[in-house]
Amino acid sequence: MENNHILEMRGVTKHFPGVLALDAVDFKVQPGTVHALMGENGAGKSTLMKCLFGIYKMDQGTIILKDRECHFNSAADALTAGVSMIHQELSNVPERSVAQNIWLGREPLNSIRLINHKKMITDTRTLLQNLNFNFDPAARIASLSISQQQGCEIAKAVSYNSSIVVMDEPTSSLTENEVAHLFDIIRDLRSKGMAIIYISHKMEEIFQIADDVTIMRDGRVIGTYPINELNGDKLISLMVGRSITDRFPPVESTVGEICLEVKNLTAANPRSFKNISFALHKGEILGIGGLVGAQRTELVEAIFGIRKTVSGEILVNGKALDKVRPQDAIKSGIGLVTEDRRSSGIFPLLNVTVNTTIASLGNYKKKIGLLDHKKLVSMAVKQNKQLKTKTPSMNTLVQNLSGGNQQKVILSRWLMTLPDILIMDEPTRGIDVGAKYEIYTIMAELAKQGKAIIMVSSEMPELIGMSHRVLVLCTGQLTGTLEKEELTQEAIMRHATQFS
Ligand SMILES: Nc1ncnc2c1ncn2[C@@H]1O[C@H](COP(=O)(O)OP(=O)(O)OP(=O)(O)O)[C@@H](O)[C@H]1O
Ligand SMILES: [Mg+2]
Repeated sequence: MENNHILEMRGVTKHFPGVLALDAVDFKVQPGTVHALMGENGAGKSTLMKCLFGIYKMDQGTIILKDRECHFNSAADALTAGVSMIHQELSNVPERSVAQNIWLGREPLNSIRLINHKKMITDTRTLLQNLNFNFDPAARIASLSISQQQGCEIAKAVSYNSSIVVMDEPTSSLTENEVAHLFDIIRDLRSKGMAIIYISHKMEEIFQIADDVTIMRDGRVIGTYPINELNGDKLISLMVGRSITDRFPPVESTVGEICLEVKNLTAANPRSFKNISFALHKGEILGIGGLVGAQRTELVEAIFGIRKTVSGEILVNGKALDKVRPQDAIKSGIGLVTEDRRSSGIFPLLNVTVNTTIASLGNYKKKIGLLDHKKLVSMAVKQNKQLKTKTPSMNTLVQNLSGGNQQKVILSRWLMTLPDILIMDEPTRGIDVGAKYEIYTIMAELAKQGKAIIMVSSEMPELIGMSHRVLVLCTGQLTGTLEKEELTQEAIMRHATQFS
């Protein structure tokens, strides 16, 4: 067995200013396997893979690929040596075509050394067909769905004849069918001898697809286990270093009077939601369930004034909002924690303090209109401490935080606005099990204080574990409202698939 590894990383150490991100990490992968890499937010998973891929320079350590020691100085080096990575942040060039992205820097040339576009397109078409993707090789990346963009990256990996493909949280924006397709592709690549390193916080996926699991904690490897030696509880306790008995804290709030009413709300986009009515009460956690494409995000964005509606009403504390723009929504006490932190939430080049405080600056004005900086910063520190955001300092650029910690900064931002109504769209996506519990605890606490929460979620256990009631949407229509005692996965699924 010893020499059977396709990849061996030995003693990999990596410092960032103020953090030891990797501490003498040993990591081995066998060919023809799916090797899951798991651990809490900030454990060092992405950093380890970026060292492998030549994006980060390791301080110490060696990388052995098929018995040969390698040093990659760039992603291009890694690709040429047969290592591909599909990033947590997709990295295609949006304004170029699929074919241009795949063959970037190694375009086929014709006899007079110009790019042979025709060959590039036909080669791409064959590549896509072999992977069962049916999008156009000439399509601009920006016009593709997330899953198609990811497909493009997978096609690129295959085109380089890679022997190792790293996938960093690949399913976070995929529908169930897309996940199934991705898993088919992964199984097919595995059967051809490729090694897939798979990073995910979704436990069910790991048990479906992984052969081996390596668990990291605080920059160290805790251990590598074959999947059949693990179960959910054991995996969690290895990740967080303690066993977690309850996944959800008790929700002990009193549900009071109505604070938000939505009446017959219909989106301007005819393919979006129609005729939605519901009421939200003080102290209530109202879940919104449904499959991807159910228009849940569109609905909450309309309530927050980001999406246009053609008819219907929104009332806050009995008063109809005549105009709904985000600034009006914020003024009437509504906060929205967005689903996609990369495109609509995070300011990557600004630091943690600014990202935390940017929506609540108005609360920190001194008499003559200046900001009370000291108070602002101390509140930002307090809020991030409460969520256990892991950051070297408050001045660290948010783009340097791990994915899950970026999500915590956004949540802190909206908690700082002290909203009466907090809308959370997939609040725990990309968040590890320990941190999820912290977020649930905060939700329960807010409800106890009489705040109202709307939680859009695709995770059924979370909908069932935290909500007083769940609305289910299917292709833009409200297909069911389930009370606490009616909440089961089957009941949610039944309503979520009503029209499909
Ligand atoms: N470019 C960077 N500059 C400074 N610090 C960084 C940088 N990249 C990562 N870090 C730090 O290194 C540590 C490990 O981060 P990493 O992104 O590898 O975590 P992760 O295990 O992928 O977490 P997640 O599950 O949240 O994605 C964190 O403390 C993070 O803040
Ligand atoms: Mg990561």
